[in-house]
Amino acid sequence: MIWSFSHIYHQLIMSTMAVLQLLVPLLASCVVASTGPPPLHPPHPQHLPPCQVVQVDVFCSDLSLRSAPVDLPPGVQTLDLSRNQVQNLSQETLAYHSDFHRLNLHSNRIHFIQPDLFKDMMDLKVLDLSKNHLNVFALSKINIGPLTAVESLDLSSNGLYTGMSDYFLADSPSLTNLSLSSNSITKIAQNAFIGSPSLVKISLHNNVILEIENGAFDSLHHLTELDLSKNSITCITNFNLYKLEVLNLSKNSIGLFQSASTDNWFNLLYLDLSENKMLYFPSLPRSNVLEYLDISRNRLQSTNVSGSPEKRAKVILSKLQFLDMSYNQLKSIPESFFCFMSSLKVLNVSNNCIDSFTISVDGLLPSVKVINLSFNSLQSLTFGESTMQTLEKLFLQGNNLATLDHQIFQRLPSIRYLQLQQNNLIICETGEKQHAPSDQNQEHPPGCVSFSSVPTLHFLYLSENNLQTLPANIFANTPLKLLDLSLNPGLDMDKDSLTGLEHSLVHLLLSENNISRLNTDLSLLKSLKHVDLSTNQLTSLPTWNKESSIESLNLQNNNLVTLDYSTMVALEHSLKTLYMGSNPLNCCSNLGFLHMVKRSAVVVPDIETVTCVHKDFSEPVNIERLTEGMCHESGTSTYLIVCLVALIAVIIMLALLVKRCLSRKRKRNRSFTA
Ligand SMILES: *[C@@H]1O[C@H](CO)[C@@H](O)[C@H](O)[C@H]1NC(C)=O
Ligand SMILES: *[C@@H]1O[C@H](CO)[C@@H](O)[C@H](O)[C@H]1NC(C)=O
Ligand SMILES: *[C@@H]1O[C@H](CO)[C@@H](O)[C@H](O)[C@H]1NC(C)=O
Ligand SMILES: *[C@@H]1O[C@H](CO)[C@@H](O)[C@H](O)[C@H]1NC(C)=O
Ligand SMILES: *[C@@H]1O[C@H](CO)[C@@H](O)[C@H](O)[C@H]1NC(C)=O
Ligand SMILES: *[C@@H]1O[C@H](CO)[C@@H](O)[C@H](O)[C@H]1NC(C)=O
Ligand SMILES: *[C@@H]1O[C@H](CO)[C@@H](O)[C@H](O)[C@H]1NC(C)=O
Repeated sequence: MIWSFSHIYHQLIMSTMAVLQLLVPLLASCVVASTGPPPLHPPHPQHLPPCQVVQVDVFCSDLSLRSAPVDLPPGVQTLDLSRNQVQNLSQETLAYHSDFHRLNLHSNRIHFIQPDLFKDMMDLKVLDLSKNHLNVFALSKINIGPLTAVESLDLSSNGLYTGMSDYFLADSPSLTNLSLSSNSITKIAQNAFIGSPSLVKISLHNNVILEIENGAFDSLHHLTELDLSKNSITCITNFNLYKLEVLNLSKNSIGLFQSASTDNWFNLLYLDLSENKMLYFPSLPRSNVLEYLDISRNRLQSTNVSGSPEKRAKVILSKLQFLDMSYNQLKSIPESFFCFMSSLKVLNVSNNCIDSFTISVDGLLPSVKVINLSFNSLQSLTFGESTMQTLEKLFLQGNNLATLDHQIFQRLPSIRYLQLQQNNLIICETGEKQHAPSDQNQEHPPGCVSFSSVPTLHFLYLSENNLQTLPANIFANTPLKLLDLSLNPGLDMDKDSLTGLEHSLVHLLLSENNISRLNTDLSLLKSLKHVDLSTNQLTSLPTWNKESSIESLNLQNNNLVTLDYSTMVALEHSLKTLYMGSNPLNCCSNLGFLHMVKRSAVVVPDIETVTCVHKDFSEPVNIERLTEGMCHESGTSTYLIVCLVALIAVIIMLALLVKRCLSRKRKRNRSFTA
């Protein structure tokens, strides 16, 4: 009885589905626009919200389900059952469907899988079993049977330890992508991947691998990507995975990396050795096409390959584009290290102890675009006459550099971006006489550096350099877009120091310079949009006129009492953001500003800290609480007094008039009686 009822019910659903399937293409656009087709009901419809159906995909994530809904439409391709309560994965829990293409069972409580469940799922390509309790299943030593068609299998976060993956991988002929990350595997056995010969990509990230048996990956002729990051590997000797393109060994304890000594070609493109314990530069394959090498956060003290000089066999890294050796203990890098690095684009050697960096040989590093030398202890930096032709960005932050060859940047024909903050540079003056070469030595302070006539330079950071003066015309013929001069307290800017930047400068940063009066006319900088003048001693606004295009202005933490109303009006048409907190503003002399904040589109992000001083209040008043009325009180009372006085005067006059009239009348009356 019950069976026939459910049978009829099932038929009904099937025919509804068939009609729906016919309609779906017709209604496709409506479906997208509306809330979606009728939802499916899980077994307990009275308690649970429904699954979402989008054509052939069914999404039942996060519904506290123990199994798939019984009324799954035929031909469903994707079933997302992630974040539910499935414990026993069987035909029953999958509603006896077997034509899935993608099954997502991430984050359930699966501790049992019916053997051979996937054997007849000829279309099942993607199977996500991550974050379950498959270690419990593995303990029963049962094989899940063939993964006939599965190409991508995710077994991450299942508490699996060494050998347990065998029960899942024994017969997986189509598997190309496998994740075993975040398990507890300590050893990769020689036969670990025997049953999955098609693997292309394996992730073993975040395990505790100490040992990889010889030949463990040898049967994998298609393997190109191997992620062994975040494990406990201490050394790699005889590296011989010729087909591998990406190898991630980051976050292990590797002290030694040694490639097989052979002339066979290696396909390796990416090698990540960051966050290990390497003392020496890795011994890389002689015949290589390596493009990306990260050895940052190790213990390199030199670029030597090993402690003994005879082992310094030169490896040609002619395809290398990215080299990161930051956060090591390098004291120097010999120029010869860069021989043959003809493709190198990015070199990061920041956060080391390098005191001198020289590239003098013509044609060395012919493709380099970025050099990051920040946070070293550079005393000298030298680039030869025709080197560094392609260098666009140079980072020299935090080096305490005091002297540089004064034309060093003029010799970099592609330089666009210069970070020089936290040094001790002195800027050369650019006088008329500068054009006479013989005068140069007398003209400039020794070791000063010149920024004029660097026609490619757009971004210049000079904060924290103890700059004392900014002479006139120092940026002539250098079309800067951004200039950062902040944190140079006491900086004395010549009134013509920014001459030459009239049509290029967009960002100007002058914060924390202890400036009390700007003697540079910023309104001449026609392209200027963003100005930071915070934390100075300014008592008045720089003047701007209607032609200004300032969009953001930071005046926080100055000594501003009264804001010039005409400047505020001039700024108003372009200004979008204004920082004004921590100034001793006078409430009633800045009603124009108050208006502007209330009526225009200007955003004042620090409005909470914008206060003003009012004689009626002991504490500064937040500008948002200030009303115009609070400033008109005294006006009103004088008005009242004037009115009162006038009224009294009128009354007295009237009284006098009345009195006179009366006395005349009386006289007249008197005469009348007379
Ligand atoms: C899992 O379900 C199958 C089929 O419903 C059943 O035969 C088996 O005993 C169950 N196993 C466990 C461990 O619950
Ligand atoms: C491989 O699987 C991982 C997770 O298991 C997934 O994030 C990744 O997109 C898959 N890659 C390919 C190429 O299928
Ligand atoms: C290597 O793995 C680490 C840690 O998982 C990751 O941050 C890094 O991006 C990976 N490197 C590459 C080249 O993919
Ligand atoms: C690196 O090798 C050179 C030349 O063999 C040697 O002079 C130098 O001491 C080595 N440096 C280190 C730190 O081993
Ligand atoms: C090193 O610098 C390069 C370029 O500046 C950057 O891409 C990379 O992320 C830096 N490395 C680290 C570890 O921050
Ligand atoms: C320079 O490298 C350091 C790592 O050493 C990194 O933090 C910094 O962001 C890099 N600088 C730039 C501008 O890429
Ligand atoms: C800032 O300037 C004032 C004079 O305007 C001076 O007394 C003070 O010492 C300066 N502070 C610093 C840190 O330079």
